[in-house]
Amino acid sequence: MKALPVIIVGAGGHAVVVADALLASGRSVIGFVDQDVQMHGSSLCGLPVLGGDEHLSQVSSAEVMLVNGIGSTGDTCIRMRVQQRLQDLGWQFSGVIHPSAIISNFAGLSPDVQVLARSVIQSNALIEAGCIVNTGAIVEHDVAIGSWSHVAPGAVICGGVRFGSFSHIGAGAVVMQGIQMGPRTLVGAGAVVVRHFEGHGTLVGVPARKVGN
Ligand SMILES: CC(C)(COP(=O)(O)OP(=O)(O)OC[C@H]1O[C@@H](n2cnc3c(N)ncnc32)[C@H](O)[C@@H]1OP(=O)(O)O)[C@@H](O)C(=O)NCCC(=O)NCCS
Repeated sequence: MKALPVIIVGAGGHAVVVADALLASGRSVIGFVDQDVQMHGSSLCGLPVLGGDEHLSQVSSAEVMLVNGIGSTGDTCIRMRVQQRLQDLGWQFSGVIHPSAIISNFAGLSPDVQVLARSVIQSNALIEAGCIVNTGAIVEHDVAIGSWSHVAPGAVICGGVRFGSFSHIGAGAVVMQGIQMGPRTLVGAGAVVVRHFEGHGTLVGVPARKVGN
């Protein structure tokens, strides 16, 4: 069955990356919606910014799906709130899989997960709703990633790691094999996590240590 065309919610940097991945995978992309009126009528990747969310009232949710184009550099809640509000109105959100990504047949991904260019997801990895596995990230075997988390570009999550919802693993960070981290863990760019962490905090450096409150 042919996948439904999509509209991307948001028209910032992440939205453009997602649009590119969708087009590369042969999906039909109608355009973007964004609350910034200055963007309305402009185009990105050759696709129009159609208007704000109100534009969606002109479209049938039976014929079009949405894609979450809102990125996160730490707080992953905003993209969740926007998506859940639209889901409550009856919209379905599509996942995004760049054709250059390598995903094991034995990995389990929620349908709205976004897997971007040249990332790798190995066998028995489980990735819950709303997650982004960004450009060039590696998610090794038996990893479990809680909902609404973001594995930023180039991060390496070694085998058997588990981390909770709303986490952000920064660009180029490494989480060593078997590490367990609770929800709302923010790992800074370039950090190397070598110890378990109960969550709700920020880890930076090599080896990673908790900073702030
Ligand atoms: C860790 C992080 C969240 C801290 O952000 P912040 O709260 O705004 O912190 P600041 O930039 O004010 O820096 C606070 C201190 O931490 C240090 N610091 C910041 N990020 C750091 C990092 N990744 N590793 C080591 N130290 C870091 C700063 O040098 C500064 O030190 P100082 O107080 O001695 O001057 C952020 O720097 C980071 O790494 N974010 C992830 C970025 C990412 O993954 N982007 C991908 C987007 S797709």
